[in-house]
Amino acid sequence: MKCVDDFRLRLGSHELIPIVVGGMGVDISTSTLAVEVARLGGIGHISDAMVHTVTDRRHGTHYVKDRLKQYKFNVGNLLDKSVAQFDLGLLAEATRLHVGKTMEAKRGPGLVFVNCMEKLTMNNPRETLRVRLRAAMDAGIDGITLAAGLHLGSFALIQDHPRFHDVELGIIVSSLRALQLFLKKNARHERLPDYIVIEGPLAGGHLGFGADWAEHDLAAIVAEIRAWLHAEHLDIPLIPAGGIFTGGDAVRFLEQGAAAVQVATRFTVTRECGLPDDVKQAYFRASADQIEVNNTSPTGYPMRMLKGCPAVGSGARPNCEAFGYLLDGAGHCQYAELYARELARLPKGQKIRIWDKTCLCTHMRNFDCWTCGHYTWRLKETSVREADGGYRLLDTEHVFRDYLHSTGDEIGLPIVKEDEY
Ligand SMILES: Cc1cc2nc3c(=O)[nH]c(=O)nc-3n(C[C@H](O)[C@H](O)[C@H](O)COP(=O)(O)O)c2cc1C
Repeated sequence: MKCVDDFRLRLGSHELIPIVVGGMGVDISTSTLAVEVARLGGIGHISDAMVHTVTDRRHGTHYVKDRLKQYKFNVGNLLDKSVAQFDLGLLAEATRLHVGKTMEAKRGPGLVFVNCMEKLTMNNPRETLRVRLRAAMDAGIDGITLAAGLHLGSFALIQDHPRFHDVELGIIVSSLRALQLFLKKNARHERLPDYIVIEGPLAGGHLGFGADWAEHDLAAIVAEIRAWLHAEHLDIPLIPAGGIFTGGDAVRFLEQGAAAVQVATRFTVTRECGLPDDVKQAYFRASADQIEVNNTSPTGYPMRMLKGCPAVGSGARPNCEAFGYLLDGAGHCQYAELYARELARLPKGQKIRIWDKTCLCTHMRNFDCWTCGHYTWRLKETSVREADGGYRLLDTEHVFRDYLHSTGDEIGLPIVKEDEY
């Protein structure tokens, strides 16, 4: 029976283990996790979501405090945050710091990519995206995965960068239609994406589907895209993602022609993952009926999360002057608008609780929005219980090697001795 180690991913001049650990913002797929995956020969992702917060936490900068100080005068203005612009120079600096430190730490044969979400509109969608992409390239990132959005204009933002043809550039799509749009819009750049991540309906984070997400099937979307690329004589590596929980699941896709698989959920309970330990334990304990897809993200995309996580119904005061990553080009966020409505409606002093949307920046920053993959409820199958009843956290190396060597639907528990790896 075949295992993932029987396959290799060829990307440009690189020969890699065909395991990609997907980007998980905000700082859930940490630099440490990404660098460890690269050391093992795969592709690890960092995310540039809320990069100022991440560098403040990791590198002692104080971008968020300074931004709040600058725009504090506007905190009470809930309906118009357009004044709270991001300083593009500081955004570039923070991105270079985050990416640069990660790349300095990188060892071994694998690669580190950055996940760059278009829906992080940051009060100035085009310019902030331009700065984020270019700063990551300046700082030596191996590749950029364009995520959460159609990215119709993203290649144009970087086409004159000296590394445009050297950095691996990929796009995440959830349908053939989205891929066709992307390729059509970017045709004039004479550069195809180097890889395509096809994210199905069982993934964590935001989903590229509507309310009918459950009617879609990853394998069917992959087959449709593969057939179309073949008919167009286009040869671009395909990387399915979403619900690939075991080595056996991965092998099924690789045998059908996938170049690699992108996985994430299994790594959320590793020591290297940025989630706090109590959240990792909540993921381990989760039952299938606790995992839902809801519409509480102000991005407008459905998002999968654990029911009852602190982000939903919290009524946090909008923090757009400190964060503001989801402000559209006109300075609006759906959550801030709902908050303003409740503030006006409720008697003074009554606690505000909002269920329709979450203050996503604040809650992702505080690890209170427990976004997760569909199979999070199966994580308990991947570990052992400690004497105190909690589950043992896993090493990234253990999970990676389990994907690599397991056959069928076996899952190796963390009882193997180090030298058995
Ligand atoms: C906790 C968590 C956070 C995620 N955050 C992001 C993100 O910020 N951007 C993104 O493009 N995908 C995000 N994803 C999706 C993953 O990168 C990946 O494609 C997908 O979850 C793979 O499916 P799996 O989790 O079933 O293995 C996230 C997934 C999880 C589990």
